[in-house]
Amino acid sequence: MALEERNIYMNTLQLQMLDQHVALLTINRTDALNAMNKEMMMELKAFIQLYQREAPFRVLILTGAGDKSFIAGADIKEMRSMDHMNMLEYCKLGQEIANAFASAPFVVIAAVNGYALGGGLEMALAADFIYASSTAKFGLPEVSLGILPGFGGTQRLSRAVGKAMAKELILTGRIIPSSEALSIGLINKICDKEALIDNCLQTAKEITQHSFKAVLQAKQAIDTGLNMGLEESLILERNMCAVVFATEERKVGMDAFIEKRGKR
Ligand code: COA
Repeated sequence: MALEERNIYMNTLQLQMLDQHVALLTINRTDALNAMNKEMMMELKAFIQLYQREAPFRVLILTGAGDKSFIAGADIKEMRSMDHMNMLEYCKLGQEIANAFASAPFVVIAAVNGYALGGGLEMALAADFIYASSTAKFGLPEVSLGILPGFGGTQRLSRAVGKAMAKELILTGRIIPSSEALSIGLINKICDKEALIDNCLQTAKEITQHSFKAVLQAKQAIDTGLNMGLEESLILERNMCAVVFATEERKVGMDAFIEKRGKR
């Protein structure tokens, strides 16, 4: 299928194929700094459901439209009129979307190009890793609204930066710049604003030159293993290693090394 035929346009989302294996998903609701309203959440859910088993790309780069914001959180104006039971459903939906990105059958790189606040940071935390522009800002400011992060933030931020740092950020609601996000290990790299997507694409290309089965099993071994004890996770790792050993790509990769093709 031609690249353009794989592009998707929804009201708040656009999927654009950047090359044969890499796609860019842009969150687009710039008049509200890409805040997540119900429509966007339903579109995200539909998008991720479509590709839950198999996707026409191997790496997805997730970014926000405009030059100011990645996602400025859940839509506070929409949230204001909810009751606590609506909130339970709303958080469940937000968590389902984040979980689906986290366990997707492709690699997700969050390209944070501005504000990643509340639900926005929670979506970025569901990615496999984060690159950010030098102007990006990160925070879970929910306590300032009298609530707490409900799309996975309390759990994923603690796993990403450790319990004490997550507590400091969540309990103060503090918003931090990219430089600080890098120093606490929340993001992997800071890029010039104009070069952010290109940096993500270069890394995506490094990933897609390898056996996709090996890449996905490695991603799954890390994610699943982190929720297990060391002993069980090592059993998981060796089982997964045996699974990919049976693939054709493994034979091709090892033959290439032995025949001195594709030098590292
Ligand atoms: N929900 C709904 N609308 C939002 C929003 C959100 N999370 N974040 C921004 N917007 C809207 C603003 O209401 C404003 O709309 P308006 O032009 O109709 O008034 C528009 O986006 C621009 O935002 P504004 O606040 O004017 O921009 P700013 O540059 O002065 O400030 C932020 C940017 C991100 C610091 C500020 O918008 C903010 O604090 N947003 C909320 C962040 C948050 O608490 N997220 C967690 C939610 S759980």
